[in-house]
Amino acid sequence: MDQPWWKRCVAYQIYPRSFCDSNGDGVGDLRGITSKLDYLASLGIGMVWLCPVYASPNDDNGYDISDYEAIQPDFGTLEDWIALRDGLHARGIRLVMDLVANHSSDEHAWFVESRTAKDSGKRDWYIWRPPAADGGPPNDWQSVFGGPAWEYDAATGEYYLHLFSKKQPDLNWESTAFRTELFAMMRRWVALGIDGFRMDVINLIAKPDGLGAGDNEGGMDRALNGPRMRDYLAEMRREVFAGTDLVTIGETPGMPLELAREITDERAPLLDMQFHFEHVDLDHAPGASKWDSTPMTMPALRATLSRWQDGMEPHGWNSLYLGNHDQPRAVSRYGDDGRYRRESATLLMTLLLTLKGTPFIYQGDEIGMANVAFDSITDYRDIETLNAWLWLTGTRGLDAASALAMIRKKSRDNARTPMQWSAAPNAGFSAAAPWIAPNPDYTGHNVAAAEADPDSVLHYTRRLIALRQGTPALRSGRYRLLDAEHPALWLYERTSEMGRCVVALNFSDTTQPLPPALAELPCLLTNHHNPAADTLAAWEARNLGPA
Ligand code: NOJ
Repeated sequence: MDQPWWKRCVAYQIYPRSFCDSNGDGVGDLRGITSKLDYLASLGIGMVWLCPVYASPNDDNGYDISDYEAIQPDFGTLEDWIALRDGLHARGIRLVMDLVANHSSDEHAWFVESRTAKDSGKRDWYIWRPPAADGGPPNDWQSVFGGPAWEYDAATGEYYLHLFSKKQPDLNWESTAFRTELFAMMRRWVALGIDGFRMDVINLIAKPDGLGAGDNEGGMDRALNGPRMRDYLAEMRREVFAGTDLVTIGETPGMPLELAREITDERAPLLDMQFHFEHVDLDHAPGASKWDSTPMTMPALRATLSRWQDGMEPHGWNSLYLGNHDQPRAVSRYGDDGRYRRESATLLMTLLLTLKGTPFIYQGDEIGMANVAFDSITDYRDIETLNAWLWLTGTRGLDAASALAMIRKKSRDNARTPMQWSAAPNAGFSAAAPWIAPNPDYTGHNVAAAEADPDSVLHYTRRLIALRQGTPALRSGRYRLLDAEHPALWLYERTSEMGRCVVALNFSDTTQPLPPALAELPCLLTNHHNPAADTLAAWEARNLGPA
């Protein structure tokens, strides 16, 4: 049976604020993206995931939506969006939109109405509770961005729940009227010709019962994967996606493998695929804050991703990613952004593009963009980062240099600096000073330079995508780890009835012997100039046939 389109293609994620600014206001926009359509097509991708472009006061860069059906004026107009949609479709690239429906902005008309009175028609579209006996929040849940997850609203003397910032009140999926309106809104986007949704924190939508005064048991983890989540997703599938071939991609932090396999089961899917977080959570100890980094090791990464590769068989499907707009840059985190920047960036691209699942390339990773090390907290823009700074230097009592070191490593702004198009001022991203400063390394690392260099990460990425698209075993073959113990090499095969491929990755800066059985196989693609038959050079990635 033919695979659905979204299993066959490579996806590319665009963070519109930082991709390309067409009108010189320092903010990326839709026309900017449209001006780069030929570049996108040249990569060989088949799907774009566009981060939110809807009206928003931008407390969380568009993940706080004030109107789901209006385009953020900084980004352009609906006509601009239609031109982008058509330009992508003309090039055979599908367009996946972001759906942020766990919460809205507090400036959304729904919330404005909800907060007016306890008997407002939309009161139960959000989650309101009376204060605890001492007048404080109903329970001790803490928000993801720091501070209590409840905000007091003087107008009615109650608290509303916000798992993220206080400008992102959580929507109440128990309200049938809300779900009816949400699904109708989604259908209107479907009618506009989109190809699917990536669904923001979709496993947080089903809150547990209670949440009343003093109901502290289990903390906020109780909001994860709630019992009614399956019902809501099934209803959404029926109401919005029945009879379409649209893709549904869940962002699901804290979703266990067994549940992910169940909800993406192709025989009765609730979602087509989902992003788990296990590999991006490897560099902080369980229970520690994300800012308290521990080393990220290849064996841990290998064990985690191999578990997901095996565990989603035979009927589930993985989304694959090493970075996105919420994570540090992959080359800085899993690779070596110093001496072996090109080699490790191409090795990581090899990993991403040769595992089983749908790979998502985050903008800029195809030119090996790296973390930024801003000199001062005033250069950072992300709400999570700015709140963390207050917490690290306040509650935690750290000095500024230590706090800045932690932030440089983990800030989401690492992934949000402007796309580096050229060595021109502002990285060729904008004619004006960008909303966030570019990484100063843009003079050496940019698309124009990469186009001119046949050895660049960019050219290698194109070759790799072409190899994947032309090799059935890489698209659909089963994954099998060949050596679970090796301290430096990650060796695996992908096999289908159509053929077999072996991938050999050297996650170290020393030459490593290749097992003799693999040394005999023909090389399909390597990121190294003069590959030696029986060894892998530092950070070498080799794709071996027969295909
Ligand atoms: C996940 C999004 O990717 C992130 O950027 C956002 O801050 C949170 N969800 C809240 O919407």
